[in-house]
Amino acid sequence: MEKFVIKGGRELHGRVKVSGSKNASLPILFASILTGELDLSNVPALMDVATTCDLLEHMGFAVSREPGRVKVKEGEVTPEAPYELVKKMRASILALGPLLARFGRAKVSLPGGCAIGLRPVDLHLKGLSKMGAEIEISHGYIVASVNGRLKGADITLDFPTVGGTENLLMAATLAEGRTVIRNAAKEPEIVDLAKALKSAGAHIEGEGTDVIVVEGEGELSPIVHSVMPDRIEAGTFLSAVATAGGDVVIEDFPSETLGTVIDKFKEAGLEIEELSPSEVRVRKRQRLKGTDITTQPYPGFPTDMQAQFMAAMCTADGVSVIKETIFENRFMHALELQRMGADLKIEGNTVVVKGVERLTGAKVTATDLRASASLVVAGLGAENTTEVYRIYHLDRGYERLEEKLKALGAEIERVPSELKY
Ligand code: UD1
Repeated sequence: MEKFVIKGGRELHGRVKVSGSKNASLPILFASILTGELDLSNVPALMDVATTCDLLEHMGFAVSREPGRVKVKEGEVTPEAPYELVKKMRASILALGPLLARFGRAKVSLPGGCAIGLRPVDLHLKGLSKMGAEIEISHGYIVASVNGRLKGADITLDFPTVGGTENLLMAATLAEGRTVIRNAAKEPEIVDLAKALKSAGAHIEGEGTDVIVVEGEGELSPIVHSVMPDRIEAGTFLSAVATAGGDVVIEDFPSETLGTVIDKFKEAGLEIEELSPSEVRVRKRQRLKGTDITTQPYPGFPTDMQAQFMAAMCTADGVSVIKETIFENRFMHALELQRMGADLKIEGNTVVVKGVERLTGAKVTATDLRASASLVVAGLGAENTTEVYRIYHLDRGYERLEEKLKALGAEIERVPSELKY
């Protein structure tokens, strides 16, 4: 086990480059199940990417990795995702749609609970059933099969689930006939997945809107694609400058996908200047002021930036009201931020933040991926030393975060943790 030791109060200066998107890489890697072959570049070096590659290998795909690139080739496939790997990463459920569409059967462990909420997969299953899949839950596994090919269907999602939309979109590319997904999620990662699928000859329209139409194909050719930059990592750098202060140019910054986040940080008084469509300069020249956010499906404020924004608001002037509408239990970081001196009142799905002059370093524990990012961000701006435990959560989704921050002048070290858990 490792931890971060952060000596707060150092301003950030210089240039930093955003890595490829985790949440785009994972579904696209699973899309290789549909095509049998993939050549993916701008892939970040992260634990979740490694877990996805392990899972593909476990199922019988040959996976080769070099820095920033993953190639996949189909071998003798067993369409099964075991508990041990799904437990490590919930996104493994994204194997289900592609396995069913390609091999007519799949056995995928049910993901189970997680720290930020219940996160059921009922909408994934309902959609696949509508496409003709027979699905049963047996011994903790989703066991699914279809007689012949999946059939195109008209599916209306009860909620614009990101993973559900991705699973159904992938399954539809090899289904017989036309599939319409209504109330689809509009996240940019879905647009990137559609782009990758189109590189393999899939016929998709409407990605990025709430109605996606797919004309199924008999087979697809290899995927060749470069992953979009990670908008959440980019937003995390904004929040790091918001707490630590400084003047940073962020390269490969996906401005067009971060509108609400940019607007909210600007409202709070952070200076964000677009130097080009893929480069911004972010400067903090005054204390930020309290700003409210409500998380929403895209294009609303992303739930994956809620924790980092809260960290920035802890020392802003005045009150901020932070409302979480996507996940029911996504305030674990708030309790840790309180330990650093934040003045927070948690009421149901809302946290009222009263900005304090500064946070003070403390030992804090990461509970999930974005919570750990918020604690790092808070530590950068805090007085004295902050120690962040259980950073394996952070390693699931950020590529070399401490190295990137160090290059900007932060004092942050990864050291062995004295705690065994
Ligand atoms: C994805 C992202 C995650 C992000 C989330 C919301 C990946 C790998 N993960 O997760 O980082 O925080 O989108 O933007 O891309 N729901 C149901 N039934 C379902 C599916 C979802 O009730 O069948 C509910 C969930 O419990 C949750 C909400 O819908 O409350 C959103 O979940 P969803 O959009 O599916 O998120 P993920 O795809 O799991």
